[in-house]
Amino acid sequence: MRLAVIPGDGIGTEVVAEGLKVLGEVAHDVETTSYDLGAARWQRTGELLPDSVLEELRQHDAILLGAVGDPSVPPGILERGLLLRLRFELDHHVNLRPAKLYDGVRSPLAEPGEIDMLCIREGTEGPYTGNGGVLRRDTPHEVATEVSVNTAFGVERVVRYAFERALARPRRHLTLVHKTNVLSHAGSLWSRTVEEVAAEFTEVTVAYQHVDAASMFFITDPSRYDVIVTDNLFGDIITDVAAAVTGGIGLAASGNLDVSGTNPSMFEPVHGSAPDIAGQGKADPTATVLSVGLLLEHLGLGDQARKVNAAVAFDLSTRDPLAPMRTSEVGDRLAALASG
Ligand code: NAD
Ligand code: IPM
Ligand code: MN
Repeated sequence: MRLAVIPGDGIGTEVVAEGLKVLGEVAHDVETTSYDLGAARWQRTGELLPDSVLEELRQHDAILLGAVGDPSVPPGILERGLLLRLRFELDHHVNLRPAKLYDGVRSPLAEPGEIDMLCIREGTEGPYTGNGGVLRRDTPHEVATEVSVNTAFGVERVVRYAFERALARPRRHLTLVHKTNVLSHAGSLWSRTVEEVAAEFTEVTVAYQHVDAASMFFITDPSRYDVIVTDNLFGDIITDVAAAVTGGIGLAASGNLDVSGTNPSMFEPVHGSAPDIAGQGKADPTATVLSVGLLLEHLGLGDQARKVNAAVAFDLSTRDPLAPMRTSEVGDRLAALASG
């Protein structure tokens, strides 16, 4: 396996080190190349993602990313110029974000029930495309727009993927989350697409919720969800909520997939660079380790993925909430469990 590693900023570097530790225990033919991208490089050279680096990244089987973002860099520069550019250039149209409440993990909900959902967030369209602009900047009449782009091609491929994933799960249930009551153009395209593809997946039951209501049900009744499909921005927001109810952002994993396999897929924790705790050895690397699990599964290494997931499940069932472990202690423990 040729793996490109982008540790990035803040706790990104800390959690990636632990992810690689665990990966090293279960997969032996891994050749890693680390790429120095992020705030430090931008400060030093003004570079975000040189084309030559992007071309090198394309030559890998997968990418493992920590996080990008730094308080010393204006918001959006690294996020858009590095992270989103990678997702767009590498056609990561499926952003896969499972949210499962593991045994032994405390949810902030009084009665969480069983939570095991798979959020499928569109990754290359919506309001993230950077379409929009500003008129009369710095005047009292300034107008700023962000245009949400939704194409039949883009919506269909992510909806189809969501149906396929739903079909392979025991409950075979898919919920479309959108805001069709207000965003009627995009909403109509998403609803019609779900309806059309559903005709090919008659074993999958389908539900719809507006994103505001879904955000409420994530908290009041998360067990109702199995697979969720939604647009890029709604998916960003609801997956932080899903993470919160399943034990926190430190456990939330993700995969940015080019389902066609043309480009390497990229795996990363859902969280960011957490400047508030960076450099303190306090970050939970579990989200990154679970992202390594998704990476292994994506590359067809199911046995290795199961070892990683089982190590996490066991560790979570035995953690002492009164004695939080340091980043490297969690990594050591998961590596030992995964190897055994
Ligand atoms: P964040 O996820 O970095 O942090 C939110 C809160 O969660 C913080 O209190 C942080 O300490 C905590 N947290 C996050 N990960 C944790 C972990 N593994 N263990 C324990 N606690 C953890 O989100 P933010 O504060 O909104 O953003 C900080 C920076 O990260 C910004 O620059 C933002 O743009 C960027 N960001 C990057 C990504 C990414 O690279 N994929 C994702 C989200 C945010
Ligand atoms: C995430 C992050 C990113 C997003 C930002 C940093 C661009 O919040 O991966 O969830 O909005 O997709
Ligand atoms: Mn996010």
